[in-house]
Amino acid sequence: MMIDSIKKPGPTVLVIFGASGDLSQRKLVPALYNLMLDHWLPDNFAMVGVSHHDRTTDDLREILKEGVSEHSRQDFKGNGDWDTLSESITYYKADFTDPEAYKGLAKELDSYDEKWNTSASRIFYLSVSPQFIEPIAQNINTSGIANNVKTSRIVVEKPFGRDYESAKHLNKKLRGHFLESQIYRIDHYLGKETVQNIMAFRFANAIFEPLWNRNYIDHVQITVSETVGVEHRGNYYDKSGALRDMIQNHLLQLLCMIAMEPPITYHADEIQNRKVDVLNAIRPFSSEEKVKDNAVRGQYTAGKVDGETIEGYRDAKGTDEKSNTETYAAMKVYLDNWRWKDVPFYLRTGKSLPEKNTSITIQFKPVSHQLFPCDATNTIPNRLVIHIQPTMGIKLCMQAKKPGIKMSLNNVEMNFDYDDAFSEATPEAYETLLLDVMQGDSTLFMRADQVEAAWKIVMPILEYWENNKDEDFPNYPAGSWGPKKADDLLERDGRTWLVL
Ligand code: BG6
Repeated sequence: MMIDSIKKPGPTVLVIFGASGDLSQRKLVPALYNLMLDHWLPDNFAMVGVSHHDRTTDDLREILKEGVSEHSRQDFKGNGDWDTLSESITYYKADFTDPEAYKGLAKELDSYDEKWNTSASRIFYLSVSPQFIEPIAQNINTSGIANNVKTSRIVVEKPFGRDYESAKHLNKKLRGHFLESQIYRIDHYLGKETVQNIMAFRFANAIFEPLWNRNYIDHVQITVSETVGVEHRGNYYDKSGALRDMIQNHLLQLLCMIAMEPPITYHADEIQNRKVDVLNAIRPFSSEEKVKDNAVRGQYTAGKVDGETIEGYRDAKGTDEKSNTETYAAMKVYLDNWRWKDVPFYLRTGKSLPEKNTSITIQFKPVSHQLFPCDATNTIPNRLVIHIQPTMGIKLCMQAKKPGIKMSLNNVEMNFDYDDAFSEATPEAYETLLLDVMQGDSTLFMRADQVEAAWKIVMPILEYWENNKDEDFPNYPAGSWGPKKADDLLERDGRTWLVL
């Protein structure tokens, strides 16, 4: 990667609360390691890992080393490179809720300023259980360690609240301690290369935007299918479910990228304003009937994924044996604005499905007048598929004349594939996002009003589902494409979930 000296961040101390947890091991520290390999890490960089466990700096380094060797995007190069990063990591034991503990942290942070003879940026990354967010934010504020509002930032992982009211409450609390410009709410989907490319695709090309509206688009499908079940996260997941875990954040953000109006500039606030407009335009589910008609839930039972037998959700560790938590959710939404009036957006996500696949399908309307004889036409695809992951690219499906004497049409595809088009490696979402925080760029993060607007949309469904058990649960076998009701949702409109 070319080094852009202007963008390489200045001296930075990254304080990770919950430093030995899953996220640090699998995502955060591997991301730092890759940033270091690509020369993006600040010349003066330190990471302070904070948790309540009795352990030493060496213990933490060892735990994180394992995480990096297992999860790094680029090959783990053994001791040499790792040692450089490892030496910048220290451990600080603290009870998150104890104000006294922050005095020691203050000393630690000041020591870097002295060592580097500067006032380094301080990033407080909260990778902790939700109940610790408020006390940590408060203690950071009252201890004075984030007094420099220009260079101190707080990063908050999802889940951001568990409903509209709790998210609003959390926003209020955070904003009592920090300026909005200091608060970075993460949705890691926004850091994915292919998600960022949606804006480039739409607004750096003049070809598609004129067609990007109700006159030409029949409907949009957003699918995030996962092969994994709840793995070791039963405790968390059973209190969450697919709607909270995926739709409220990742899928609605994808929807925003597809449906937003062109921003005037590539600036964080401008882009976030356009996204909030989308969320505010989503037609609310105004009654239980609307929820029943437009939202579907599912829970998997035992089955096979990739030839491997998967236990049913209710048998997974940490879940209730009578759990009513959904591991699959689908919904149909409309946007009440000029561009999208009456164009349905179908969203679906689920665990233990047959494929890992995140993609967005834009189905265009058929031609207004079919001039070819009936037997000349195959089905008319007129379809654009944006592949987010694991395939990364964009596919345009259209009709072409099949070679031969007869006029016969067939489906063909034009493909843009990242692997063919670019030789550059694709950074992981967390690399991009961590670098952005260090650079003070919040474009790919969620503003308070965005998070609240997204919660508002799902609230009627959450409430209905919480108050009305699904007596059919579990209703899809692991390894299938979800409950039949999800197919019915589209069939009622004369459509099907499209082959991806
Ligand atoms: C997380 C969810 O936010 O996203 C997980 O909590 C989910 O349940 C994960 O598996 C999916 O992320 P990705 O990047 O693998 O698509």
